[in-house]
Amino acid sequence: MNDALDRELSIRTVDATPYAASLVEGHRDFGYSLDTALADIIDNAITAGSKSIKLMADTVAEEPWIALADDGCGMEESELVEAMRLGSKNPLDKRNRHDLGRFGLGLKSASFSQCRKLTVLTKRNEKISCARWDLDRIAHCNDWSLELIDNPQTLPSYDLLGSQGTVVVWEVLDRMNGGYANDRVKRAEYMNGELTRAERHLRLVFHRFLEGTKPRVRLSLNGRELKPIDPMASTHPATQKDPDDFLKLKHGDVRVRCYTLPHHNRMTSDQWDEVGGPEGHLKTQGLYVYREDRLIIAGGWLGLTRQTELTKLCRIAVDIPNTMDSEWKIDVKKASAQLPPLVRERLKTVIERFVGTSKRTYRAKGQRLVDETRFPLWSRLQIDGKIVFRPNMEHPLLTAYTEQLSDALREGFERCIRLVGAGLPIEALHAEIAGNAEEIAADKVNERDLREFIHTLALTLTDNGVPKSELPDVLKSNPFLKARWESAEPILNDLLKAD
Ligand SMILES: Nc1ncnc2c1ncn2[C@@H]1O[C@H](COP(=O)(O)OP(=O)(O)O)[C@@H](O)[C@H]1O
Ligand SMILES: [Mg+2]
Repeated sequence: MNDALDRELSIRTVDATPYAASLVEGHRDFGYSLDTALADIIDNAITAGSKSIKLMADTVAEEPWIALADDGCGMEESELVEAMRLGSKNPLDKRNRHDLGRFGLGLKSASFSQCRKLTVLTKRNEKISCARWDLDRIAHCNDWSLELIDNPQTLPSYDLLGSQGTVVVWEVLDRMNGGYANDRVKRAEYMNGELTRAERHLRLVFHRFLEGTKPRVRLSLNGRELKPIDPMASTHPATQKDPDDFLKLKHGDVRVRCYTLPHHNRMTSDQWDEVGGPEGHLKTQGLYVYREDRLIIAGGWLGLTRQTELTKLCRIAVDIPNTMDSEWKIDVKKASAQLPPLVRERLKTVIERFVGTSKRTYRAKGQRLVDETRFPLWSRLQIDGKIVFRPNMEHPLLTAYTEQLSDALREGFERCIRLVGAGLPIEALHAEIAGNAEEIAADKVNERDLREFIHTLALTLTDNGVPKSELPDVLKSNPFLKARWESAEPILNDLLKAD
């Protein structure tokens, strides 16, 4: 609206201060999980200049609690009160260069996502201050009065406070009991599981801070030091790193570095699993976006290209400064961002070139990038602790066909395949296999279909640098062909002769 128009309007104002009780409950649901919530509290500790950050958790106590103690700059009482305020800093204000914060909300909303009682103990210039938000109290009084505790010496977490620094304590962990509010053993099991997942997340998100013989920061969980997980495996001798690329933009420079991970037989299986994580390498290929060295996006191509078996070793580190927050739409929990259109365009070119070179590299060396199983028709995945078999949409047989379809037809076709996959009669199979495994067979394939299958697969493989002489061996390792090699071999021989 313009001012002139406003002046003509007759405007009254009434007080519409939000109700504390309902607003604060809303703050619990920004979408944090334990791992992103802890990461946000650690951001604060790092920004405060901490060298050592200790995460302590008592999951077996009658009233479980989690505490994060740092040796950073600490706060005076007035600063503590500001820190506890919801929206203590305006996201439009300029931040210090290495500040990992953004909205002035993290401490509160991350904590409230997990607990109903947040206590912060802090020490600066020999003075100790302590403040607490108790959501039950806010719900009851419906106001924003913060509790200040003048004798924190009696709190159990008091001992975690060093000569200077801050301790953040979460109690009444109502979101972390896994539904086992009254079963202490089950509840502890659930919480320990969550903490194990969070541990991996923290080792990954803060890996750049934890690296080296003299790391910038030491992080421990119940006294055990957490070692970094470098998603680029950049210190591995077989990792290939391309030269840095810089995108110069109005609000700062974006640095882009492309890495190709070593093939899995050049790493120990522990290293391979650590870098791939529970989701595996196919899902974790892609872009790794760092904001001031802190990882905010871990893998995926953000819609710029597809995750394929052939590119699963490709990872690109993208470094952005905190001056670009609004363009990148960094969210409150710092777990997502969107590429600004200009960056999108430039990155797309980088990705195309990189993915292209990486395929050529393999061609030149004749090295194998794809798994030994070579394009299985069914992928075996682990999802939520269960093994799932799913038709492999990346299979050349399917992609070669879907590429010829219009968007609408492709969607329909892919849906049909997905549904056939989801309809795999697991129970019936299970019952049959338990009874008479030898009597069960996969359906027969007619000669024409088999020929089509072999042609498509052979073409994709040669396109990706597999020499013709290796085709019989490689194709034989494909489970589908292996099972019918007697019929497949002559078809392949014909094909090789015809070339
Ligand atoms: N561990 C800490 N040590 C010192 N100061 C802290 C700590 N945690 C939070 N603060 C102060 O509280 C403020 C608010 O924190 P937070 O709610 O996470 O918002 P943001 O990090 O976006 O500024 C910070 O800007 C900082 O001044
Ligand atoms: Mg913060």
